[in-house]
Amino acid sequence: MSAHDAPAGEATNPSAQDIPAVPSAPAVPSAPVTPSAPFAPSAFLFGGDWSPEQWDRDTWREDVELMRRAKVNTVSLGIFSWASLEPAEGVYDTGWLDDVIELITAAGIGFFLATPTASPPPWFTLAHPDAMPVREDGVRLTHGSRDTYAVSAPAYRDASRRVARMLAERYGSHPGLRGWHLHNEYGTLDHGPHAARSFRTWLQRRYGTLETLNQEWSTAFWSQRYGDWQEITPPRTTQYLHNPAQLIDFRRYSSDEMRSAMVEQREEIRAAGSSAPMTTNFMLPTWNHLEQWSWADELDVVSLDHYLDTTGPDAEAHVAYGSDLSRSWSGGPWVLMEQNAAGISLGDRTIPKSPQRMIRHSLGYIARGSQSSLFFQWRASLGGSEQWHSGLVPHAGASTRRFEAVCELGSILERIAPAVRLPADGPLVEAEVGILWHADGWWALETPHLPSDTIRYSDEVRATHRSFWRAGIPVDFVRPGADASRYRLLVVPCLYPLSDEQVTWLEQYVEAGGELIVTYLSGISDASLRIQPGGYPGRLRELLGVRVQEMLPLEAGVQVALDDGGVVEEWTELLDTTDAEVLAVYAQGELRGLPAITSSARGSGHAVYLSARLRQDSRDAFFAAAAERLGIAPTLAGAAEQGLEVVRRRGDGADHVFLLHHGSEPVTVRGDGRELISGQDGASGVRIEPGDVGVLALAPGAPLDLLPHTPS
Ligand code: GAL
Repeated sequence: MSAHDAPAGEATNPSAQDIPAVPSAPAVPSAPVTPSAPFAPSAFLFGGDWSPEQWDRDTWREDVELMRRAKVNTVSLGIFSWASLEPAEGVYDTGWLDDVIELITAAGIGFFLATPTASPPPWFTLAHPDAMPVREDGVRLTHGSRDTYAVSAPAYRDASRRVARMLAERYGSHPGLRGWHLHNEYGTLDHGPHAARSFRTWLQRRYGTLETLNQEWSTAFWSQRYGDWQEITPPRTTQYLHNPAQLIDFRRYSSDEMRSAMVEQREEIRAAGSSAPMTTNFMLPTWNHLEQWSWADELDVVSLDHYLDTTGPDAEAHVAYGSDLSRSWSGGPWVLMEQNAAGISLGDRTIPKSPQRMIRHSLGYIARGSQSSLFFQWRASLGGSEQWHSGLVPHAGASTRRFEAVCELGSILERIAPAVRLPADGPLVEAEVGILWHADGWWALETPHLPSDTIRYSDEVRATHRSFWRAGIPVDFVRPGADASRYRLLVVPCLYPLSDEQVTWLEQYVEAGGELIVTYLSGISDASLRIQPGGYPGRLRELLGVRVQEMLPLEAGVQVALDDGGVVEEWTELLDTTDAEVLAVYAQGELRGLPAITSSARGSGHAVYLSARLRQDSRDAFFAAAAERLGIAPTLAGAAEQGLEVVRRRGDGADHVFLLHHGSEPVTVRGDGRELISGQDGASGVRIEPGDVGVLALAPGAPLDLLPHTPS
C-alpha cells in the first residue's frame, strides 16, 4: 500500500518510491498586487467573527438587534462554514448565507467574507484522504478539529478554488462586502507525499542543480549527499538531528506554498469579477509559518489576529508590538481582524482582559494604524471546541458589564471616526527607529542544537521593541533591502542568516550616515545557515570592526555586570576589536576587562555591536541612551514614566494624539486642540484617568506637553 492510500489517522512514513506522480497544480500568475489605494473604510470597522450557522434564526435576529445597539458595522462571515456551504462535494447550500447577508444589510452592517478553506468538511477527508496533512512523524491527520489540509494536495487546491469561485460569483459584487478574508491563519505544515513533490520542485527552482543543493545543504557531512531529486523529502522524523539547511528551506517552501494557494484563491475571486480588497489574517505571537513581507506583497491590506500571552503590564507593549509589525508589513493602514473580547482560554488557564483594558487596547491598535476593531467572536459559543473563548456577547448575555463596554467602544469609535482619517501622503506614524524583521531569523533560531536553545528570535525582537515602547519612542519594522534612509537608528536583533545583498545593504546604510546596532546571533551564517569562518559574526565582522572568538552562553540564573552599569544574562562572547571603539567592558567573571559593546565609525555613520544579552532593564537603558545620543525624542517627554502611552497618528490635515493611560494616577496633557471622546479643550489640558483613553486632535506637528500632576 502506498502512503497515498493510507487510511486517515494511520501512521505512514512515505518513502521516495511511494510518491505517486501527481500532476502539479496549474501555474498561477503571481505578480505582486499594488493596492490602488490604501484601505480606507469610511468608519472604523467594528464587530467581529460571526458564525450564525451555530445559532437558530431567533438568535440571529437578536444578534442583529444587539449589533445595532453596539454600533457594530462589520462582521466576518463564513470562516469555518465549508460544511454548511457545501454539504456534499459540489452541492452548495447558500440559502442560509443569503438570509444572513440580507438581514445584516438591512441593518446597515457590512461583512468580510471568508473563503472557508481552513476547515475542510468530513466528506472531503473521506473522498480525499491524501489531502490530509502528514505530521513530521508520519501520522496522517484527519478531520475532527480544523486546519486539516495538505496545502499542496491537488484535491484540496481544486476544492478550495471551486468554493472560492462559487462565493465570489454569488457575493463578490455585493455592496455590503468590505473585503475578502482568504482562508484563516494559514499555517498547517504538511510532510506528506504531496509536500515532498512540491518541496522538490521548489528546491529545483531555488538551486537549479543537485550539486548546488548538496553544497548549500552541506550534505557531505553524515553521508547525506543526494544523487537524485526523488531522494529528498520534507524533514520527517529521523534518528537524530536534522540538517538545518533542510529545515529552514522547508519553512521557506511551506510559506511560499501556502502563499501560492492563497494567490490562487485571490485570482479565482478576481476572475469572477469581484474587486473587493483582499486580505488574509496573520497570527502572532506564538507561531510563525509565514514570511510576512512577501505575503503582504500579494494583499491589498494586511490583517492580524492578536491574542495576548500575558496578564501583566506587558500586554500593553504587546499591543504596540503587534500593531507596529502589522503597519510595517502593510506599509500603512491595516486591519485588526481578531482580538479577544475578554478572557482567552489557553486550555490550562484563561488570560483575562478587563472591559476597560479591552477598550484601551482597541484604541491602541487604531493609534498605530489599524482601521478596525474586530474580535473573535461576536457571541460566545455554547458548544464546540472554543466554547470557553470569550465573545462580545458573553454566555451571561447582553445585560452584562462586558456588553456595556462593547457598546461604549462602539460609541467611542463612532465619535472619533469622522476626524481620524488617513494622511494624504507620508507615514501614519512617524518613526526614526527601525527594527529589522525577517522570518528567516525566527526559523533559523528554531533549528536545534544551536549554542543556546533558549534564545528565541521573537523574544529578542519583542524585547528590543519593548525597550523603545517603554521609552515612548515610535518604531517601524523594516524589511531587509528596503529604503531605510528615513531611520536614524536601525537595530538588527538576532538575524542569524544574512545574504550578501543584505550585508551590502547594511553597509550602505551605515556609510550614508545611519546608526546601526547589531546584536549577538546576527550575521552568523549565509542563507543556507553555513557559518562564515574567521570569527563571528562573520558576515558583519568588517562592518562592526570586531571578531568573536567564542560564544559563551551563561547558565540559567547567572548574571554578569558591565562597567557601564548594565547587567547581562544568558549570553556573552569573547570579543576582539579589530577596528572599533569599546563602549563597555565586563566588570566581572572570566571576561572581566574584555569588550562587551563596541562601536565602529564607517563613512558618516556608526555600527555598534552588542555582544552580550542585556537584562530587560539594562536593554531599556541602553536603547534609551542610544536614542538620546542621536536626538531621537519620545512622542511626549515624561509620559511613559507615568504609564501614559502617547501615539501621534498622522491624519488628513491633522494629527491625532492617542493617550492610552496604563498608569495609576491621573495625567493631564495639553495641546491646542479638542479631545474627541470627552470633548475637553486641549488648550486648558486634557485629564485622563487611570485606565482611560483620549484622542486629541491637533494641527500637524503642534506641540504637546504634560502638565504637572495635581491631586484632585
Ligand atoms: C484565532 C482563530 C479563531 C479562534 C481564536 C480563538 O487564532 O482565528 O478562529 O480560534 O483564535 O481565540
